[in-house]
Amino acid sequence: MQLLEGTLPAQAIIDRLQSAVRALPVGGPRPTVAFVLVGEDGPSATYVARKQIAAEQVGFISRVIRLPETVSEAALLQVIQGLNEDASLHGILVQAPLPSHICGLTIFNAVLPTKDVDGFHAQNVGRLCQGDLGGLIPCTPAGVAELLRFYGISTAGKHVVVLGRSLTVGRPAAFLFLEKTWNATVTICHTGTQNVKAIAQQADILIVATGRPEWVNETHVRPGAIVIDVGINRVVDAAAKRGYRLVGDVDRKRVEGIAGAISPVPGGVGPLTVAKLMDNTYLAFSHSLA
Ligand code: GUN
Repeated sequence: MQLLEGTLPAQAIIDRLQSAVRALPVGGPRPTVAFVLVGEDGPSATYVARKQIAAEQVGFISRVIRLPETVSEAALLQVIQGLNEDASLHGILVQAPLPSHICGLTIFNAVLPTKDVDGFHAQNVGRLCQGDLGGLIPCTPAGVAELLRFYGISTAGKHVVVLGRSLTVGRPAAFLFLEKTWNATVTICHTGTQNVKAIAQQADILIVATGRPEWVNETHVRPGAIVIDVGINRVVDAAAKRGYRLVGDVDRKRVEGIAGAISPVPGGVGPLTVAKLMDNTYLAFSHSLA
């Protein structure tokens, strides 16, 4: 069974962007991205910190705007408006999940589509849905596509089954692999799907984004199938240094020996999501110069 590690292809993207930044005219604008972090969610703070480190690595400028859990939707919209109007800023990312009193869609749709490095604005989602790859494409699905490309796994004519219908992964992944460049036959399963196992077993490529720790096991996987685990979950582990360990949405031990290949957690899709965010930021920056 092949392990689809994301660190190598992610580093290749980081290296390419580093060179691109080095080639920019001295004293001219540099790609600049703002991360908006609402509340004290531990995993969100970790993800934003990783994104900041990557931005620094490639030579981008990054800012973090921290807002309290109690911030109103109106106040958050005002912050976004300010970032939209700031001409020195090329990318804006509002880290999800947001507190329950704030509507995620309202917030994502308030970000200027040209600065929407997450690709969550209706205009970018709509372009992807139309089969137009010229918009900003959500980072995790783009990372999955890069992982498959790097390991020489073709999706053309294959049955891609996506478990999960989130705005961040499931939906955009389905539309990406449906597009002619990837040319897959796509099925989406979700919490309302009957007989998920029978459908998952038909997958040549199973993309798992259920948000349920180690939910997928050998009963979901056809022998030889490619399994892409998009989940990152903290589970309590008294023996671990931090008191928790990270697991995916796939029970890797139970799937090993059946799957043809699997992406590990951590170190699989995660690093590529971050690298693709840098790619999107550079794209937004380039478009701003045009
Ligand atoms: N939370 C989990 N994944 C993501 C992501 O890709 N973007 C944002 N903004 N928040 C997230």
